[in-house]
Amino acid sequence: MSNKMWGGRFASGPDAIMEAINASIDFDKRLHAQDIAGSKAHAAMLADQGILSKEDAAAIAHGLDTIASEIEAGSFTFSAALEDIHMNVEARLAELIGSAAGRLHTGRSRNDQVATDFRLYVRDALDDLDSALNALQTALATQARDHFDAVMPGFTHLQAAQPVTFGHHLLAYVEMLSRDRGRIMDARRRLNESPLGAAALAGTSFPIDRDKTARTLGFDRPMANSLDAVSDRDFVLETLSALSIMAVHLSRFAEEIVVWSSAQFAFVSLSDAWTTGSSIMPQKRNPDAAELVRAKTGRIFGALIGLLTVMKGLPLAYSKDMQEDKEPFFDALDAARLVVAAVAGMAGDLKPNRERMAAAAGAGYSTATDLADWLVRELGLPFREAHHVTGRIVGLASDTGRDLNALSLEEMQAIEPRITEAVFSVLGVENSVKSRTSYGGTAPDNVKAQAEAWLGRLAE
Ligand code: ARG
Repeated sequence: MSNKMWGGRFASGPDAIMEAINASIDFDKRLHAQDIAGSKAHAAMLADQGILSKEDAAAIAHGLDTIASEIEAGSFTFSAALEDIHMNVEARLAELIGSAAGRLHTGRSRNDQVATDFRLYVRDALDDLDSALNALQTALATQARDHFDAVMPGFTHLQAAQPVTFGHHLLAYVEMLSRDRGRIMDARRRLNESPLGAAALAGTSFPIDRDKTARTLGFDRPMANSLDAVSDRDFVLETLSALSIMAVHLSRFAEEIVVWSSAQFAFVSLSDAWTTGSSIMPQKRNPDAAELVRAKTGRIFGALIGLLTVMKGLPLAYSKDMQEDKEPFFDALDAARLVVAAVAGMAGDLKPNRERMAAAAGAGYSTATDLADWLVRELGLPFREAHHVTGRIVGLASDTGRDLNALSLEEMQAIEPRITEAVFSVLGVENSVKSRTSYGGTAPDNVKAQAEAWLGRLAE
């Protein structure tokens, strides 16, 4: 059978493999709601402009509503012979309302149609992600407020460096996620222009009103260049790069959950709801969800690199290569939604082991910087000299297998005679974090205020 849409030029139908490589309906049916909304806006505009009769426009609108409910109800039959969502909808419209269906495609092409559908779809996806990220930030900020003063080791090189609080550590992710949301909203703002009416590539000779369809569909304005409108997918690339950076953040946190929940660290535990057992080792409680959050990052990066590669050599305007924009995007979006939800779930579920974290915070001479700062502040030593004196004191403690606060005053005075009893006040981890009162520092009062400020902002 020759094709319904271009049968005039074609005597016979495609080879089966041609159909298999060409059809996109299996994945672009996800655009059905946007496709129908775009068609309704286009038909209404055509009628307002006198390009389509009021009767035909009404029949088209009614038919499109029927199709929308058939798809919602699962009773719509999608056909690969009809290639994509656009032609599936139009063919069904013809079955429902007859020849008036053929007037819908006036002053429009599948090229501006698919670009419109996809922009609408990505816009909705970005809005959903933004609120999912708000929920995740809220879960993290809530834990941060509850544990604003729980001392844990802060790490550099994964070596205990200086004590911080658990709340401070969690709020670092709240900050990262807020920049992710900024990138998401930025992408949304830039993508919100309408390609509809660019037609195949050059615009149309019909007196269409592109401002009107743009407004109806919630776009800020029509895109100003018809070639650009049908041929760029930077809005997908921008979204995927924002998702990739977000995925990096979530993967780093997931990695920390994996490390922290190990028996060696035992800083946090996850409940039955967020762990799995082992079929052979009864003692195991595995952080599979965190590991999969870490791993799904690969799909998201993959979609970005894949689409960058698809686009890089394409001459203007549309080429069928661009149909390969959707599948990886949908896959990356599904992964992104899942990882955001999973990390929100784990963030709420995490139980910190405060004693264990505090003990670890004190190990490894993590208050050595506090000792050096004390020497500067109280004895007026230049920092470099204080660093040197502290190094000798740490060396003594380490050689004799003791913590800093287990050394005697006399032992320290043998290295620096002016040290007094008061030095012991800065050698404990609690005092160490309390002293970090500089803006953005880990002092518990700072952390509490930041967590509360975030919770207030996130609830707005
Ligand atoms: N399914 C196509 C896509 O996703 C729709 C546009 C087809 N345009 C064309 N000129 N063949 O890109």
